[in-house]
Amino acid sequence: MASALNFRRSQFADDFLFGVATSAYQIEGSSFGGAGPSHWDTFAATPGNTANAEDGAIACDHYHRYEADLDLIAGANLDAYRFSVSWARVMPDGRTVNREGLDFYDRLTDAMLERGIKPMLTLHHWDLPAALADEGGWRNRDVTDRFADFTGHVIDRIGDRMAATGTLNEPWCIAWLSHFLGNHAPGLRDIRAAARAMHHVLVAHGKAVDVLRAAGQDNIGIYLNFEPAEPANGDDGDAEAALRYHAIYNEWFLGALFKKSYPRRALQGLRPHLPEGWEDDMEQIARPLDWLGVNFYTRKLIAHDAAQAWPSLKEVPGPLPKTDMDWEITPESFEWLLGWIAESHTGDLPLIVSENGMASTDVLLNGAVDDGPRIAYLQAHIDAMRRAIDNGAPVKGYTVWSLLDNYEWALGYGKRFGIVHVDYGTLKRTPKASWHALKQALARD
Ligand code: NOJ
Repeated sequence: MASALNFRRSQFADDFLFGVATSAYQIEGSSFGGAGPSHWDTFAATPGNTANAEDGAIACDHYHRYEADLDLIAGANLDAYRFSVSWARVMPDGRTVNREGLDFYDRLTDAMLERGIKPMLTLHHWDLPAALADEGGWRNRDVTDRFADFTGHVIDRIGDRMAATGTLNEPWCIAWLSHFLGNHAPGLRDIRAAARAMHHVLVAHGKAVDVLRAAGQDNIGIYLNFEPAEPANGDDGDAEAALRYHAIYNEWFLGALFKKSYPRRALQGLRPHLPEGWEDDMEQIARPLDWLGVNFYTRKLIAHDAAQAWPSLKEVPGPLPKTDMDWEITPESFEWLLGWIAESHTGDLPLIVSENGMASTDVLLNGAVDDGPRIAYLQAHIDAMRRAIDNGAPVKGYTVWSLLDNYEWALGYGKRFGIVHVDYGTLKRTPKASWHALKQALARD
């Protein structure tokens, strides 16, 4: 099993950034520092929603241990840290600012700079204040103004020190996974709610971009997740179903942001449920960006499912080796994806791989974690990214998900994505073999 990563900084441009990514709710501990409840706290408090009823109240206690955690980032010779700001910590009721919350992100930012780590901000990574969720959350257009307001407060305080600022993390998850599939907070299975959320996340993004530009930010983007979709079988029904999946998952956000339009195949089912006048928002949504964040983990095999209402499709397990999430390991899909995004939508716009990594059943043995499968996964995906760059994809950075084992949302603490192991009993951190491999590969010689 792999124990080293075989790549060198010299194979990438001088300003190529390697980093790690986390998010606030997954690591900080939502019960500290005057944070209000987010809809993840209330979702997790509802029986049946999360594995073992686990929540982010303590998580990795990063709120108190951030300095040691940043030492781990610098210690692995990583350049950048993609982190998120908790909306419910900064604005506990969605409207009033909690100074203590902003103070934390101020300290965190300075602590990054002291260690030579470039801060890469995610404004929103899913911890919507419960008070706003109670007003309809992403179904209610008012949330777009609340998000713009939150953006202003955060950027006033730490914007002067950010290397890059992204608005939303994975709007597909915020909207579709959470309002149509029902797996994430608020746990709805309602196409009308989903359609509104699919539109409002983009309007919120566009309004936040205006706030960021007005505040002088000049390195603005958004983090989208992608899953290349392939037909499960050779028949036309599955091919068309895969295209529907592709439209909802991959093309909806890119289309709005870069072509001012939604894909036809997604509109087929969503148009009747979109808020009136949605076409008039396209200018607001498609504000120019400085980069696009690309989160990639796997592909999906899709079959037509006539027993289901639109989009009448289902995911079919694939034949390839899988991670602990049951996700197939598909670096070829990653290579294809990076080229496709640039060719079909973004052209020369810099792409940043803002998440990539795997969950594995890591075991702490004699003070060490041998996560060879993760090293092999990272190697295969870094190689695939290298090939995509050689073929013209303008990729400028790569941040591994994740620094620490953490709260994997509805799946709780059982799925370990970290390059650093966390013992949830003692909260002790142990760098895994993948951390050591990154440290070695990224050393400047
Ligand atoms: C995407 C999300 O941004 C992150 O929160 C999550 O933990 C990883 N994927 C792994 O599922």
